[in-house]
Amino acid sequence: MNILIMGPAGAGKGTMSDLILKEYDIPHISTGDMLRENVRNETELGKEAKGYMDAGKLVPDDLINAMVEKRLQEPDCKKGYLLDGFPRTLVQAEAFEKITERIGKPVESVLALNVGWDVLVDRITGRRVCPKCKAIYHIKNKPSRVEGICDVCGSPLQQRRDDTVEQLKVRMDEYDKSTKPVIDFYREKGVVSDIDASVSAENTFAQVKKALGKVA
Ligand code: AP5
Repeated sequence: MNILIMGPAGAGKGTMSDLILKEYDIPHISTGDMLRENVRNETELGKEAKGYMDAGKLVPDDLINAMVEKRLQEPDCKKGYLLDGFPRTLVQAEAFEKITERIGKPVESVLALNVGWDVLVDRITGRRVCPKCKAIYHIKNKPSRVEGICDVCGSPLQQRRDDTVEQLKVRMDEYDKSTKPVIDFYREKGVVSDIDASVSAENTFAQVKKALGKVA
């Protein structure tokens, strides 16, 4: 299955991706996670990307397109992909059309997660993440068993540098300006499923499963 999961910051793309992976055997490719890994390892890409990410701005298209194309050539992508956070601009979407033609893996399903502003603020400010195993928590909605410690690997949890209301505003502006047109681009191809992601993770996932049932 070749799936894109899209939605604004805090909509639950990472949370839904974890649930999708438990049911479908495809790799989860998050451009945000890949970039954060590059920042942590202080690679050339990480050094270039860091300033954009900290400000809530999008990283330049050419850096992202090259990173995704390389990742999709890895053997695990033979089964398909679950792309989280890409493409985010029309330039990326057009480049991705060429990549999917080359590798023979056209997009089959786009999950568009829809959530209002107040819920996003609550999710972003309450999110805690494990820097090691990438598990996602929320101080109210999904607290870890021991406060501040990852249930899965025992590492101390962190708050992401871009998880502030100020940065969320910038990320939302970027989303409205650059990413909504990408959803329309796929809507014209008839592959978009709109998901009400303002409800519980369980109810959101029920809608996701229904949408994926159409292409499974
Ligand atoms: P990225 O890491 O992709 O961040 P994002 O799109 O802003 O999305 P988030 O990871 O913040 O949110 P999410 O939707 O995954 O929500 P989550 O599941 O964690 O990108 C970061 C940066 O990298 C960008 O700003 C940009 O600079 C750069 N970048 C990445 N891709 C790029 C690209 N293609 N081009 C250019 N630049 C790029 O959930 C949030 C919280 O809510 C959690 O605490 C969770 O527990 C809780 N929650 C989730 N769902 C529910 C629910 N249904 N009910 C209750 N709580 C819930």
